[in-house]
Amino acid sequence: MKKLEVGILGATGMVGQRFVSLLENHPWFEVAWLGASDKSAGKKYVDACHWRLREPMPEKARHLSVHECQADHAGRIPQLVFASLDSKVAGEVEKAFAQAGHVVVSNSSNHRMDADVPLLIPEVNPDHLALVRTQGHGRGWKGMIVTNPNCTTVGLAMSLAPLDRAFGLEKVMMTSMQAVSGAGYPGVPTLDIMGNVIPYISGEEEKVERETQKLLGKLADGRVRPGEFAVSAQCNRVFVEDGHTESISVSLQSKAAVEDLVKVWRAFRALPQERGLPSAPKHPIVVRDERDRPQPKFDVATENGMATVIGRVRPCPVLQFKYTALSHNTIRGAAGAALLNAELMKSEGYLD
Ligand SMILES: NC(=O)c1ccc[n+]([C@@H]2O[C@H](COP(=O)([O-])OP(=O)(O)OC[C@H]3O[C@@H](n4cnc5c(N)ncnc54)[C@H](OP(=O)(O)O)[C@@H]3O)[C@@H](O)[C@H]2O)c1
Repeated sequence: MKKLEVGILGATGMVGQRFVSLLENHPWFEVAWLGASDKSAGKKYVDACHWRLREPMPEKARHLSVHECQADHAGRIPQLVFASLDSKVAGEVEKAFAQAGHVVVSNSSNHRMDADVPLLIPEVNPDHLALVRTQGHGRGWKGMIVTNPNCTTVGLAMSLAPLDRAFGLEKVMMTSMQAVSGAGYPGVPTLDIMGNVIPYISGEEEKVERETQKLLGKLADGRVRPGEFAVSAQCNRVFVEDGHTESISVSLQSKAAVEDLVKVWRAFRALPQERGLPSAPKHPIVVRDERDRPQPKFDVATENGMATVIGRVRPCPVLQFKYTALSHNTIRGAAGAALLNAELMKSEGYLD
């Protein structure tokens, strides 16, 4: 099968680098075009990018030129573009690309809550992809924008989706311990974070609360009715390199025991697994039995960073149950999430 050429907007950033790395040897897609700010434009990727991943920079990417993120109507940029732009510019740039006919698969928060933009986790709400039909009619765009959730939302929503289906959710409380790579590069200054916990990440708690309800909402008559359970999030930055850890408490609508929760999580499989999408984890949720896991240092790379790892499942004296969930913020929470969204779109015929 001839691979589909793709572009990356924001290719030099933390998430952009993950895209470049995850797309090396991808069976369906190949990187053909890279975009970043005017500071990087005109340089070769190897000179423009301060590569921060342990995996070496893919040989082919080193020699690609970096361009300005100007939408072009002349077909010089691939139709499918992954986007990981600074949110200060992402909103307008993504709109311009969608208008010019591109399929923009975005990581940024700017359009996630737009009523006609799908906010997707392929295991959780693949049916919401149908919103792009409303988007095309309503905005007069030839292209479209599809988004993945915030890196903190994804582990929470993945862990909640099977519980919601099996027992119904009533209340959710989540306290996060978020890695420094979640703040991009160079991110939080060393002297602010070393030996410290920062109990504030601008806009994060509101994003997690709203996005979780949209993701677990029902699509009817061309719109998403948000989930009706209550969600309260408290977000903290900690001195961890990769992996957001979350302490979660839930109360459910129907009666369940700890073993029932573990059973539904272990049995959880969805469309990406059924279709064998290339980036889909075999087990989207992995439950650890050890009393002190998951830990980012040991568990963040589970299923190539695409699984949500759960542990410490136990009764909660305030709500009903509590547990710990861990998710890789730049893979499942960003580039890997967008890649899986694009694979879902291809398998649904949106990229033909
Ligand atoms: N890090 C995570 O864990 C994570 C997770 C989920 C979502 N996100 C979201 O993904 C996006 C990227 O995050 P990041 O962590 O990769 O940030 P980052 O490391 O700061 O990278 C930002 C990218 O945007 C480009 N850029 C900045 N200003 C630009 C402009 N005026 N025009 C065109 N390109 C411009 C930068 O290019 P230059 O190098 O040329 O400046 C760089 O490629 C953000 O919206 C973020 O909220 C991040």
